[in-house]
Amino acid sequence: MFPGNRVLTATTMLHVLAVLLFPGFALALRGRAFRMDSLSDSISGALSKATGSIFRGTCEGGWGSGGGGASTGVIKDGMREYFYKSCGLGGYEMLKGEFESNKVMHATKTMKVPQPICLGTSDYSAFVVFEKLSLGGFGSPELFGESLAAMHMCTSQNGKFGFHVNNTIGATFQPNTWQDTWADFWDKERLGHILSLCKREGASCPWEEDLRVKVRSVLSSHDCKPSLIHGDLWSGNQGFLTDGTPAIFDPAAYFGDYEADLAMTKLFGSNAKGFYTRHAEAMGPDHPKDGWELRQIVYNFYHIANHYVLFGGGYWQQAENMAMRILKA
Ligand SMILES: Nc1ncnc2c1ncn2[C@@H]1O[C@H](COP(=O)(O)OP(=O)(O)OP(=O)(O)O)[C@@H](O)[C@H]1O
Ligand SMILES: [Mg+2]
Repeated sequence: MFPGNRVLTATTMLHVLAVLLFPGFALALRGRAFRMDSLSDSISGALSKATGSIFRGTCEGGWGSGGGGASTGVIKDGMREYFYKSCGLGGYEMLKGEFESNKVMHATKTMKVPQPICLGTSDYSAFVVFEKLSLGGFGSPELFGESLAAMHMCTSQNGKFGFHVNNTIGATFQPNTWQDTWADFWDKERLGHILSLCKREGASCPWEEDLRVKVRSVLSSHDCKPSLIHGDLWSGNQGFLTDGTPAIFDPAAYFGDYEADLAMTKLFGSNAKGFYTRHAEAMGPDHPKDGWELRQIVYNFYHIANHYVLFGGGYWQQAENMAMRILKA
């Protein structure tokens, strides 16, 4: 084929592609605009009802999707603005878990969490709306440690371990059935649950029974209260407001051992030393309690196993290494 013919053929193919692709692309864009209008209307209605004053705003953003699979954005009407998350109608319970988590944490008035405003559905989506935080500042790790300890000192009213709703960790369902003891809660609602999900994904864990017996024994001898904890406190779910106030968001809260929160801050990196020192001082003279190094591995095993459920790959090897460390301790 001559070069001229080649150019002609390529141009023709581009035209055909454009004709074939453009209508689909244009339709997809129109479909999205339609969904966003419907979402803006539904959120505006829910906000008007929740705040008691008329709000007619427009959703901005909504493209991104984090570990939980929801899109995030801001809805504003020129006077007020709010942070929202939306996802398919099937994700309503997931958003409800986050709404209820923030509600309980916010009610403690101990540290900055986004105030939950409303939760609902539009024709195509489920949504949740929170106070918009002005994140992006710098602040004192010590103040952060102290504020978090104040929240951790809030314990469940029924004296049990669990939460009044289930929630999700990333996109993984997380049961929170109330249990009388911490060892029972961790074994049934966390370790046993995540291992069954791992096995469903193809993981082999011949050591499961041994690990569950060992973890039960480790946690049975640990005297802890059912503290209100954030539940997903990796570095991406904490920060400082522009005025330096420490803030936490995107929770999967429940009443459990507060050390599970501290462990998670060390899962991918670590908070500053002053955060841990001040937190321990605020909790009281016998904190951190003996054996926390081993419990840290126990608690983070759950999150690494969950990463295997969510992302597969090398996370199972990492989880297995942690299991072996727990069994050898
Ligand atoms: N109430 C809020 N106001 C303003 N910005 C927020 C608020 N909550 C979260 N953000 C910002 O949006 C980002 C994503 O939010 P969030 O962590 O809640 O969602 P996500 O999609 O579940 O993320 P991931 O699952 O990856 O942690 C956060 O890292 C934070 O920067
Ligand atoms: Mg997050």
